[in-house]
Amino acid sequence: MEEVRLQKFLALCGAASRRKAEELIKQGRVHINGITVTDMGIKVTEEDLVELDGKRLRKEPKKVYIMLHKPTGYVTTSKDQFSRKTVLDLVEGIEERLYPVGRLDYDTSGLLLLTNDGEFTFKLTHPKHEIEKVYIARIQGIPSEAEMGNFRQGLRIEDYTTSPAGFRVIGKSGRDTLAEIIIHEGKNRQVRKMCEAIGHPVIELKREAIGNLALGNLKEGHWRHLELSEIKGILTLLDG
Ligand code: URA
Repeated sequence: MEEVRLQKFLALCGAASRRKAEELIKQGRVHINGITVTDMGIKVTEEDLVELDGKRLRKEPKKVYIMLHKPTGYVTTSKDQFSRKTVLDLVEGIEERLYPVGRLDYDTSGLLLLTNDGEFTFKLTHPKHEIEKVYIARIQGIPSEAEMGNFRQGLRIEDYTTSPAGFRVIGKSGRDTLAEIIIHEGKNRQVRKMCEAIGHPVIELKREAIGNLALGNLKEGHWRHLELSEIKGILTLLDG
C-alpha cells in the first residue's frame, strides 16, 4: 500500500471521519509504531503499527463484487475434499479473499456472484428477500399443461412445498424441452428437484439472471466486476 496521510488512514480503517480523525490525533490518542503522534502531516503505510487508544487499526479491505459465468465441472466452494476444480480457480488477479454468494451445483453453469462483502452475501441469500432467479433448463420430454400448472402453483419436494415458480417453454430439442424457469427461493438443487417432481428431469441447467443482474454476453469461464449501478440496483431490490 502506498503512503497515505494519517487522518486518511484512520478514515480508511473506519475509525473516524477525516475531520474526527484530526481531533483524535490532536488529542494524542493515536500511536504509530508505539510513538504518540500529534503531527497532521505524517504519512503511514499498512506496514506501520497504527493504534487508536491502544487498539490496532487495519485498513478495511476494498469491497469487490464479481459476476462469474460458471462452467459445469466446478464446485462452488473454496476447497473441495475431492480436489475438484473450484470456482475460485477461475478468478485470477484479485487480491481480496472472495466467497461465492450462494451456490450452483457442480453440473450447473451460469451466473454466480463472488464477493468479500459478508453483509451483501447475507442479504442476497436471506430467504426473506425472495430475489428472482432465472434459469434455462433442458428437461426430458414434453411437460403437459397440468404439469406446468403444478410447477406454477408450488410443488412438494421432499419435506418442503415450493412457492409458485415461473415455467415457460422456450423451445424444443429433439424429445427434450427448453424451459425458462423462475424461482424466488434457493433450496438445495431446487430446480432439479422441481423438474423431477413433474416427471421431467433436468438434462442441462444454466442460471441466466439474479434480480437485475444478467449474464448478457459474458463468456463461459469468464468474469467481470459488477458496475456500481448494478450493485445499487440489486441492493434496492433487497431493501424494497
Ligand atoms: N437449482 C438447482 O437444481 N441447481 C442449481 O445449481 C441451482 C438451482
